[in-house]
Amino acid sequence: MWGGRFSKPADINLRALNDSLRFDQRMVMQDIAGSIAYVKAITTANILTEDEASKIIQGLELVKSEFENNSFEFKPNDEDIHTAVERRLIELVGDVGGKLHTGRSRNDQVATDFRLWTKQAIDDLDRLLMTLQQTIIQQSEAHIETLMPGYTHLQPAQPITVAHWLMSFFWMIMRDRERLQDAKKRVDVMPLGSGALAGTPLQLDRRGLADDLGFAMISPNSLDAVSDRDFVAETLFCLSLIGTHLSRLGEDIILYSNPSFGYIVLDDRYSTGSSLMPQKRNADPMELARGKAGRLIGHLAGILTTLKGLPSGYNKDLQEDKEALFDAFDTLNVLLPVVTGVIQTLTINVEAMRAALHEDLLATDLADYLVHKGLPFRQAHHVVGQLVQIAAQKQISLSQLAMEQFKAVSSLFDSDVYEWFNFDAAVRRRSAFGGTAPDAVKEQIKFAKSLVSLAQ
Ligand code: ARG
Repeated sequence: MWGGRFSKPADINLRALNDSLRFDQRMVMQDIAGSIAYVKAITTANILTEDEASKIIQGLELVKSEFENNSFEFKPNDEDIHTAVERRLIELVGDVGGKLHTGRSRNDQVATDFRLWTKQAIDDLDRLLMTLQQTIIQQSEAHIETLMPGYTHLQPAQPITVAHWLMSFFWMIMRDRERLQDAKKRVDVMPLGSGALAGTPLQLDRRGLADDLGFAMISPNSLDAVSDRDFVAETLFCLSLIGTHLSRLGEDIILYSNPSFGYIVLDDRYSTGSSLMPQKRNADPMELARGKAGRLIGHLAGILTTLKGLPSGYNKDLQEDKEALFDAFDTLNVLLPVVTGVIQTLTINVEAMRAALHEDLLATDLADYLVHKGLPFRQAHHVVGQLVQIAAQKQISLSQLAMEQFKAVSSLFDSDVYEWFNFDAAVRRRSAFGGTAPDAVKEQIKFAKSLVSLAQ
């Protein structure tokens, strides 16, 4: 495609390094769609006759059908998908096919193809994310009243409901989806018509071309358009954060399914065993969720590093953009259905969770009791701290302390204090919107359902 000024073919090892066909052929449909729209646009600009245009379009349709029925044959000289399609077009329609690339560069072509591909990939991923959200809602609805210890610093903190724990991940994914939609606005910009860097001398109706290809905007600066990979970095960030959220969910599930916790059991279909230890029941899928986050973040760090030193205009370094983004989407497309399956088939061990609720988790409520009686919270915190210490020394639980022992630390205590040792009541008291009380969680889920098109 560019051999005119050379007298020797490229070195075979250079070809292995330089050629991108191996991975960029997955953009073939975007490449052909881009070319068909481009033919129409340059015909309107009087570069092609109607007859030439229809020959080229027919040829491109033929190339497309060869890909669809797997009969397209790559040739050793095909450097990337763009040159492969054009080479085959010229074989099929003759020299007129050589007019397709008039005023176009692979620089604006590849950026256009990759943006088309990314828009579709975002939409496909969004569906998988929404399915996971729906599954989280379903599992939560079954456990609105189920109590478990909530943690800070991984130390037992206060009782919460299982629904509240699970739903926390719903909101992370909600933000991930919103972030992807926002990033998509900046993907949805057409570089075509930028030429190699300086723009096109043709009277191209770029706006019409963008409409034809389904782009919301056209790039306002040709130099920026051919070298801008912000959209790749930004999309990789969105995917990395999704990976990070799935990793945190994974960590919870790994811990809670550990027999020392025993809160949840992964279904057999989503558990793995050991080749040596017959008793083992491992949460491999969630360990992989945790592991894949590292891979995704690696791709993000990679593209930023690639971009940071680049001079203006297209540089071949930019070809590194595709494998990173393809792999990031591929990774999540495999991972998400598995995570969804894990959540869907999870067994919640209601009794084990309840048994893990130690009375210490009500210490904050005991302080609230004193606050109700008029004590400033700081003092209440101190008084209850003393009670916790006394109970620990006597190796009894807080409610086993006698009335005199309560009175000894604060005269505000009365016999009604014993009614406060109630986990369900403690949870029900957190009833402001956003809290863990079953009524508040029901409101939360109602709101969540309105965002993911589930019947309320
Ligand atoms: N395969 C190249 C890429 O993915 C296409 C653009 C090539 N442009 C160039 N000036 N060599 O970036």
